[in-house]
Amino acid sequence: MKISASILATQLTSLSSHVPNFKQDSIDLIHLDVMDGNFVPQISFGEALCKEVKAMTKIPMDVHLMVEKPENHVAKYYELDPYCITFHLEKTDFPIRLAQEIKKSGTKVGVSINPGTTAQSLEPLLPYIDLALIMTVEPGFYGQKFVQNGLEKIRKVKELIGSYPIEIQVDGGVNETNIAELAKAGADICVVGAGLFKSGNPNDNGTMLKRLANSKH
Ligand code: DX5
Ligand code: ZN
Repeated sequence: MKISASILATQLTSLSSHVPNFKQDSIDLIHLDVMDGNFVPQISFGEALCKEVKAMTKIPMDVHLMVEKPENHVAKYYELDPYCITFHLEKTDFPIRLAQEIKKSGTKVGVSINPGTTAQSLEPLLPYIDLALIMTVEPGFYGQKFVQNGLEKIRKVKELIGSYPIEIQVDGGVNETNIAELAKAGADICVVGAGLFKSGNPNDNGTMLKRLANSKH
């Protein structure tokens, strides 16, 4: 199980005192929740802050674009040389073209689905993507509760993916109470915000979550 740390759940004005201390054996990726105030109610940050975060660490960036018309924004994130750029299926009419464009830049492509979007809607995208991000909260805020159909959705997506080389990423409400079940259902990467930063040390929390995730395999 890989852990992707959602920095949205930290104090953004103190990133420079957190991010350089992240250890790669506890935190595999840095999850950047870009929010535009249209698709989701909140405006979080954009490419300028992402560039600063990148400069603070060797851990790869994991870009989650919660924006309308992602096709107008993806190119701004290529220079981060991220692990992956993920856009929402609900927000573009041309997901296959967008996936191909991102791929052409040499970056892995992720597609995200909200809790209200069916697993099945990913099917036409499977030949074009590297990662499927299953939202297990309605996007917009950290610290929300894991939705009821989350586990079932992960199992369905896992089945749908079959032998395609696609990682399953789960985002929203992941913590020590559910990560083992998520791993068992098929999650390869868990995004964690409050579960890493609410209390204690994020590196220790990351190590503990990984241990729990691997315990049921
Ligand atoms: C929600 C974001 C998530 C969120 C995760 O819209 O996409 O990445 O910050 O935070 P937790 O783990 O606290 O739900
Ligand atoms: Zn996210």
